[in-house]
Amino acid sequence: MRIRQHVNPTQLHFARFRGERPPLDARLVELEIGCADAQFLFERAAADPTRLYVGLEIREDLTLAVNKRARATGLPVHAVFCQAQLHVKEVFPAASVERVYVNFPDPWFKRRHHERRMVDDVLAEQIAHALRQGGELFVQSDVWAIALDAMATFDADDRFTNASGEWTFWKQGNPYGVRSWREQNAEETGLPIWRIMYRRA
Ligand SMILES: C[S@@+](CC[C@H](N)C(=O)[O-])C[C@H]1O[C@@H](n2cnc3c(N)ncnc32)[C@H](O)[C@@H]1O
Repeated sequence: MRIRQHVNPTQLHFARFRGERPPLDARLVELEIGCADAQFLFERAAADPTRLYVGLEIREDLTLAVNKRARATGLPVHAVFCQAQLHVKEVFPAASVERVYVNFPDPWFKRRHHERRMVDDVLAEQIAHALRQGGELFVQSDVWAIALDAMATFDADDRFTNASGEWTFWKQGNPYGVRSWREQNAEETGLPIWRIMYRRA
């Protein structure tokens, strides 16, 4: 399957929600925003198959591949095609998610492309809606500017409490025992990774 490298999330094409909603039920939900191949979620699901693992992804081809793999393996992973900044509220009722992962958001390095970056106040509003009180938000990036953007967004928002203390990175490493594809790549090539842990206030 040919998968596009990048898509522009500001395109009108993505404004309307056209994804397939996940089978929400009594299971605890973990959500990765921008899941790509969902390596992180598949590994989480293998470690604890009692939960439901939902990935939001703007590249539709990837969601099809993830859902095909989920059916083949029987693991409780479900990818939803959407523009996460607009559609988290379409997918999840308020306070229905236990944990949110934002693993290695696209950096969009060129200044004229900064408006395409995913982590901003608009996404924070969507996450604040979905995450239950006390639930975790974990952010990681190998790009300093993106990690700082994320800290500026969530530390300035009263709905999130930085678990390491205000304006402080999480120094304990990834506590979940699984790695995303990009995380594995960054670690194998020796790139630094900045991480931040929040709780929903
Ligand atoms: C650099 S990749 C990281 C993928 C994965 N989280 C990892 O760590 O390996 C970022 C992913 O976010 C997706 N993405 C970017 N903007 C998005 C948006 N607004 N809504 C949903 N997904 C988005 C991209 O298509 C891409 O698959």
